[in-house]
Amino acid sequence: MKTILITGATGLVGRALVKALLSKGYVVHYLTTRKEVIVNQENYKGFYWNINSGFIDVNCFKEADMLIHLAGATVSKRWTKKYRKEIFKSRVAGSNLLFSSLQKSPHTIDSFISASGISIFPNSLEKVYSEELQEKSQSFLGRVVDKWEKAAHQFLELGVKTTIVRTGVVLSKQNSALQKIAKPIQMGIGAALGSGKQFMSWIHIEDLVQMYVFLIEKELTGTYNAVAPNPVTNKELTKLVAQQLGKKILLPNVPVFMLKLLLGQMHEIVLESQRVSSEKIKKSGYQFRYPDINMVLKDLL
Ligand SMILES: NC(=O)c1ccc[n+]([C@@H]2O[C@H](COP(=O)([O-])OP(=O)(O)OC[C@H]3O[C@@H](n4cnc5c(N)ncnc54)[C@H](OP(=O)(O)O)[C@@H]3O)[C@@H](O)[C@H]2O)c1
Repeated sequence: MKTILITGATGLVGRALVKALLSKGYVVHYLTTRKEVIVNQENYKGFYWNINSGFIDVNCFKEADMLIHLAGATVSKRWTKKYRKEIFKSRVAGSNLLFSSLQKSPHTIDSFISASGISIFPNSLEKVYSEELQEKSQSFLGRVVDKWEKAAHQFLELGVKTTIVRTGVVLSKQNSALQKIAKPIQMGIGAALGSGKQFMSWIHIEDLVQMYVFLIEKELTGTYNAVAPNPVTNKELTKLVAQQLGKKILLPNVPVFMLKLLLGQMHEIVLESQRVSSEKIKKSGYQFRYPDINMVLKDLL
């Protein structure tokens, strides 16, 4: 069975992906920035790396057939100038370190999957974004994701098959965007944000994980949007979450100036609109378990 080396294996997506891969009999090796989470089991083995100092334990490449790069500093922490650098560096310098290490070390890796984000698409209420679109967002996250994808494309120079997973907002039971949306609604102080017309392209964590497994097993390369077929507007989502929780939305929409004041530059995350298409992965044969937001809210809330 294949050995898959994963960065960011201890995060929200990584944990769920590792569980799915182990249950299918894959061996998982992972790179972590925290020595204390390193374990050494037959089918699950950790290795240390430090992007800031450029260190990587190259033993991680031994026996690995595939590399999946999920690591990245969370974007849900205040974007100070220093922290913006960390968001950027953890993704782009992380990819560059993996690339230069593979260039120098003997290895058996023949395919690479990099996480990416739909923030690469420009803010728009009307456009529907497919993978082919060349227009790039000039927002902070848009620029980070663009550089992150460019860093991922370098792996092609090594003759390594490369796949990019442009991920939408991941909805899960633990610590995801959904909890942040549901909490104020549960407390009776929920409201739509800004105009409420902005689209959120989301994906249930189980679909995201199964999509990774699908891409691995079908050996698909290129760029894929990882979003469910039916994006929702912020206003719709706020209403549906309230319905599911048996609450009412009594307050007017939170004005843009207040969100800017509260969140600083991070307001981009909640106010930008990306209506993203899932046609390409559906045409490849992937069937969504959770295509509809109502199913997700029933499952997760
Ligand atoms: N969750 C979403 O809604 C969403 C949406 C779009 C794209 N994505 C992308 O998908 C990837 C996985 O997302 P996630 O939600 O699983 O993220 P997460 O829960 O925040 O976990 C990311 C992992 O990255 C590693 N990491 C954190 N800070 C780091 C740093 N400064 N330098 C190097 N590594 C660091 C950590 O692993 P160690 O502690 O083991 O090193 C952490 O477990 C991320 O790159 C994210 O940008 C996620």
